[in-house]
Amino acid sequence: MTEVGSCRAETIVEKNFDPFVGDGVEYCGFYTQDEAREIVEYARERFITVMPEIELPGHSVAALAAYPEFACTPGPFEVSTRWGVTQDIYCPIEETFAFLEDVLTEVMEIFPSPYIHIGGDEAPKRAWEESALAQEVIRREGLADEEELQSWFIRRIERFLNAHGRRLMGWDEILEGGLAPDATVMSWRGMVGGIQAAREGHDVVMTPTGYAYFDYYQGDTIQEPLAIGGLTPLERVYAFEPVPAELSATEARHVLGAQGNVWTEYIETTEYLEYMAFPRALALSEVVWSPSSQRDWGAFTQRLSSNLPRLEAQGVNFRIPDVLGLEEDRLSLEDSVVVELSGAVTGGEIRYTLDGTDPGQSSSRYEGPLMMPVDENGTEVSARIYLEGGREGKVRRARFSRTHLMPATSVPRGGRSRGLAARGFAGRFRSVDALETGEDLDVGNPSPGAPSSLPRVAIPDGIPALSFGLILNGFIRVPRKGIYTFFLSSDDGSRLTVGNRVVVNHDGPHSMAERAGQIALHRGWHPMEVRYFQSGGGYGLRLELEGPGVSKREVPARWLAHSPGPTD
Ligand code: ACM
Repeated sequence: MTEVGSCRAETIVEKNFDPFVGDGVEYCGFYTQDEAREIVEYARERFITVMPEIELPGHSVAALAAYPEFACTPGPFEVSTRWGVTQDIYCPIEETFAFLEDVLTEVMEIFPSPYIHIGGDEAPKRAWEESALAQEVIRREGLADEEELQSWFIRRIERFLNAHGRRLMGWDEILEGGLAPDATVMSWRGMVGGIQAAREGHDVVMTPTGYAYFDYYQGDTIQEPLAIGGLTPLERVYAFEPVPAELSATEARHVLGAQGNVWTEYIETTEYLEYMAFPRALALSEVVWSPSSQRDWGAFTQRLSSNLPRLEAQGVNFRIPDVLGLEEDRLSLEDSVVVELSGAVTGGEIRYTLDGTDPGQSSSRYEGPLMMPVDENGTEVSARIYLEGGREGKVRRARFSRTHLMPATSVPRGGRSRGLAARGFAGRFRSVDALETGEDLDVGNPSPGAPSSLPRVAIPDGIPALSFGLILNGFIRVPRKGIYTFFLSSDDGSRLTVGNRVVVNHDGPHSMAERAGQIALHRGWHPMEVRYFQSGGGYGLRLELEGPGVSKREVPARWLAHSPGPTD
């Protein structure tokens, strides 16, 4: 196991999956049993229990490289040189169970944890579908399919663990095909698995990717070191509610707590690990240690202010939280604006510039709200936190500009239909500028040759392509004059134009994320356009707004119209 399974021939460089680029350098490493015992003891002295995770039946190709006889196909197998999921998984044969029971016996000798985590996630079933051995087990045991076979596999392992006084923990995939009787579930693909397990009377640990994956980015990806993806800033972790409102009081008691996950494919050093874990771990700790009624972001940042110097004194390379108050560009109908900045900075300071340059240690020190004159060109405020010891945070910027109300346009009552006109484009795009190069794509046209329309800014149902582009255009009617903030969320790229102004530019491939922009509008109708492309993977499109007398909400359908085509 350690001779073969601990070495990979090389390692993928960054995200060069296809075409594959490896670094050509062999990488080896494993913990001896004594080293593992030392970790357990170090943690125990600090009242922490280490729970081991022994992956099965998937994520185990390193073991199969050493023992190909435990797979359903002859192999040979290689220790993976790239991250992710492999098709090769353990075969549900007696030899495999004998091996896994051996491994678990050694593991239980080292780890006194009452729970043993057996993974269970991301185990593709193709190898079992194609294996006579696996199919024979399905027949012999009267199982419906490969999902039930995984469930049978996990139940067998659970019986072994229970017989040794331990309990089984697994990722939410162990729900598929039926839960083992005493299993505890870690819900990582959102909260749904945890909710289902709690309703079935099982204990759960909530660790949904969108809040609790500390391998995800925590700031603007351009400024951050390479990470797997996603975006989970500190304030999002703090907003996590691990006990779903859908659960009754009895069911909710099954939520044992939450876990933060820091997978380290892209995290090569201890310094980077600390940067990803802190201070997000502090936010998650407060989430699980306090009732939701006691949680308050402002109060948390106060406490954070006094905790960061402690981490600093311990030499922890935490990520310095961003300056708050510069989340988006802002417009004003007056000749001046008040800019208020804040941050978790006890003992440290905020330094800023007004000329677009990066603030340094000798830039102006923020002492209180800035009263700034503004003109139409705008003034860019750039700010960062400096800690007492001199470490500097990331620069945050926003432009503050004087603006004027954009005049409304007239759209004759007889010449408008509800919703926005929609055009679809087939193709794999990287930018919303390229959409017109694609072939026309049917996005639900009511009759041949007629333009389609959509009641809301959204992806129409049943688009017959996995990658495509979309242009929605028409008019928006705002009920009052004033400054409107638009929030455009998309996966992948999108852009919102109102009148002749780009209000939100969110172009380029990316996962679901929101970006905001402002515009000052007179009461009445204004031309608008939303461009969007989806290049594969997850998808979504949503437009919300906030304005005079309107708190943040999806743009109401009755505010949207388009000029009908000949047959609309
Ligand atoms: C997981 O992240 N595959 C549990």
